[in-house]
Amino acid sequence: MAETAKPEVALVGAGSIGIGWAIVFARAGHAARLHDVSAAALERAPAAARARLDALAEAGLLDEQPAAVAARITTSPDLAQAVAGATLVLEQVLEKPDLKRAVFADLDRLAPPDAVLASSSSSIPASVFAEGLAGRARCLVAHPGNPPFLIPVVEIVPAPFTAPEAAARVRALMEQAGQMPVLLGREVRGFVYNRLQGAMLREAYCLLRDGVISVADLDRIVTHGLGMRYSVIGPFETSDLNYRGGLAEHADRMAANYAAMGAERVQNDPWTPDLVARAVAERRALLPLDRWEERVAWRDRELMALLRFRRSRGF
Ligand SMILES: NC(=O)c1ccc[n+]([C@@H]2O[C@H](COP(=O)([O-])OP(=O)(O)OC[C@H]3O[C@@H](n4cnc5c(N)ncnc54)[C@H](O)[C@@H]3O)[C@@H](O)[C@H]2O)c1
Repeated sequence: MAETAKPEVALVGAGSIGIGWAIVFARAGHAARLHDVSAAALERAPAAARARLDALAEAGLLDEQPAAVAARITTSPDLAQAVAGATLVLEQVLEKPDLKRAVFADLDRLAPPDAVLASSSSSIPASVFAEGLAGRARCLVAHPGNPPFLIPVVEIVPAPFTAPEAAARVRALMEQAGQMPVLLGREVRGFVYNRLQGAMLREAYCLLRDGVISVADLDRIVTHGLGMRYSVIGPFETSDLNYRGGLAEHADRMAANYAAMGAERVQNDPWTPDLVARAVAERRALLPLDRWEERVAWRDRELMALLRFRRSRGF
């Protein structure tokens, strides 16, 4: 039986992220067309993609032969040709607002009218580069982790003018391609991934500056502590499972302490009772308290599996 053709994906910018996206979509059965203004980048891309596909296959993470996946990745030096027939156009040129503005103007002119236009930007929201476009309702950000074929999370960030249907289509395509899309409620500087990363880095630099810890030891606290836990459960669930009674109990005991740490950094964002109540309500909808013990035991089993794996890798 013939395989149903999957929607075509055009990738504008064939650097690290463009190649990464090409792997994600080709791996999921889509035709992935890469475009770049640099002839050298376009020439390098197929071999770079193939090397990563070979590594994925060697790690047991590819369902097909690398050559079969690589055959779905093509290149085109012509933008119009690259986007023709595409259902999704993903842009990943350099992180410069003027460049993104110019590229999106071209994309809005050249891409099929029903294609969604998404930027991989790490920090520039669509309202900066798509506001003035006739087709702005189909424009948004789809910010990947790097490399996207190993880090599944994708932040879908609609501008105020983005049609909900465009965000829903990108989300569905990402899900079908095996990614883990998360839809943000609104645009915010740095989106969420980098705001979280930034919060940790800001504190890390302060602690280094103040002679509290070395670079290597701070990294150890993350790789042998916080990061291990966070690869299984996020910060809200961590707090929820750390105290019998869950997040409400955690906030009750710890809110003042965290507020004092924040105040040392001139930050005044207390966990107010109504904010905590909202977070608690979301957690309780995800995990009723009568299943708390069971979830704690699950967390421990996951950490044991992780620990076993890490030991086998010499960590
Ligand atoms: N590298 C990361 O960790 C990371 C993670 C998430 C998102 N991003 C975002 O992805 C985008 C690209 O990042 P990258 O790391 O792949 O950069 P990169 O430098 O590896 O690649 C950028 C590519 O864009 C090409 N380019 C420049 N102008 C172009 C144009 N007008 N049309 C077509 N191609 C053009 C360049 O020739 C280059 O090959 C940026 O917006 C960045 O913020 C990067």
